[in-house]
Amino acid sequence: MPGVVVVGLQWGDEGKGKIVDSIAGNFEAVVRFQGGSNAGHTVVVGGQKRVFHLVPSGVLQGKLGVVGNGVVVDPKVLVEELNSLEEAGVRPRLLLSDKAHVTTELHKMQDEAEELGRGGMALGTTRRGIGPTYADKAARIGIRIIDLLHPDSLREKLKGLYSAKDHILRGRGEPPAFESLYGDLVRYGEILRPYVGRAEYTLNRMLSDGSRVLFEGAQGSLLDIDHGTYPYSTSSNTVAAAAAIGSGVPASAISEVIGVAKAYTTRVGGGPFPTEDTGEAGETLRRIGGEYGATTGRPRRCGWFDAVAGRYSVMLNGANYAMIMKLDVLGELNRVKIATAYRIDGATTDEFPSTPEELGGAAPVYEEFDGWRGTDKAVWERAKEEGISALPKSLRNYVGRLEEALGIPVRGLSYGPSREELVYLD
Ligand code: IMP
Repeated sequence: MPGVVVVGLQWGDEGKGKIVDSIAGNFEAVVRFQGGSNAGHTVVVGGQKRVFHLVPSGVLQGKLGVVGNGVVVDPKVLVEELNSLEEAGVRPRLLLSDKAHVTTELHKMQDEAEELGRGGMALGTTRRGIGPTYADKAARIGIRIIDLLHPDSLREKLKGLYSAKDHILRGRGEPPAFESLYGDLVRYGEILRPYVGRAEYTLNRMLSDGSRVLFEGAQGSLLDIDHGTYPYSTSSNTVAAAAAIGSGVPASAISEVIGVAKAYTTRVGGGPFPTEDTGEAGETLRRIGGEYGATTGRPRRCGWFDAVAGRYSVMLNGANYAMIMKLDVLGELNRVKIATAYRIDGATTDEFPSTPEELGGAAPVYEEFDGWRGTDKAVWERAKEEGISALPKSLRNYVGRLEEALGIPVRGLSYGPSREELVYLD
């Protein structure tokens, strides 16, 4: 069955939105399957920057955008996004799973309070209520989109949620009054009602009919709740397999996985980051790459490409090939590096550790390469016609080493933010 998944191979912000935007034309539907409004996909269309938190970016091309059951939905954010799309003249075709869980003001408050409570051990969450919403889902006290359409039972469920949160939020600010939050949720339910449906039936029907469906990952593989750098992770499974569970299609529906990685590495929030560069190179990448969070505006930590982490992500996702982003930004440096192994406690390993302590103590083993300064847009344009041979030798060496280290082919090279600034390789 023709399901394709796009995932990030790093700690998020790899540029998945641009890849989705670039290939969405070949698909009938674009599906979000995990995460929530912690995600921020920046897409440049017609020279204008747009950030999406919940609505799948494929809707810009008139595709059916599906928000699957695995997503946690802040209805306030979703309604704002729909409004701003309408202002921009885009009438999105959206299908919102009735089973998706709802992030409320209580969850955002809890996220904030828990982060403050962690002090120096704060995770650096986006404070969008993601962790608390998934926790309530697992605890089976969550509110789902379908509940917003049934005000009577919603009232009872919301009462339950207030009483569960009482001891958590006591003394940590003033939660919204029950009636006010309840009224808001009912109102959001009315606005969203036309979009709510049984997404799993629609998607399975489409797949059986041979329609192509694109699954759009949020965050990155190293933020996966199970396989990422726990507890410095997000609260959902971010790897490709989650596309099935988070949208209600069978695992056999996924026929291809595209791994997206930046030519260097960035991370927002806390947690170990072995190849982080806190000196001039990291600063240059942040400045030239505009490495500030699309959702929070926080400066991103920057560093070198980590092939140990990359190989691990390729394995977890079963990525068939990789797209390498922001090669123009890395190209501003005279010399560039790739970490191909770690030294941990005197031993060399090419496996990604399971604990933050071990990862924090890992010293990267680097290989150094010449950069490709002065590669202007005209050279990149030529590469679109003539292929990789039009690019400087140093750049080809770097990409060749990435392919070798990741163990999969590189099929695309991105050299700027717009949809057009992408070279596809055969
Ligand atoms: P949460 O998902 O808001 O709970 O945040 C947990 C961790 O995931 C923090 O380190 C966040 O910075 C990170 N994170 C969450 N969403 C994104 C994203 O879309 N891009 C990059 N990092 C993210």
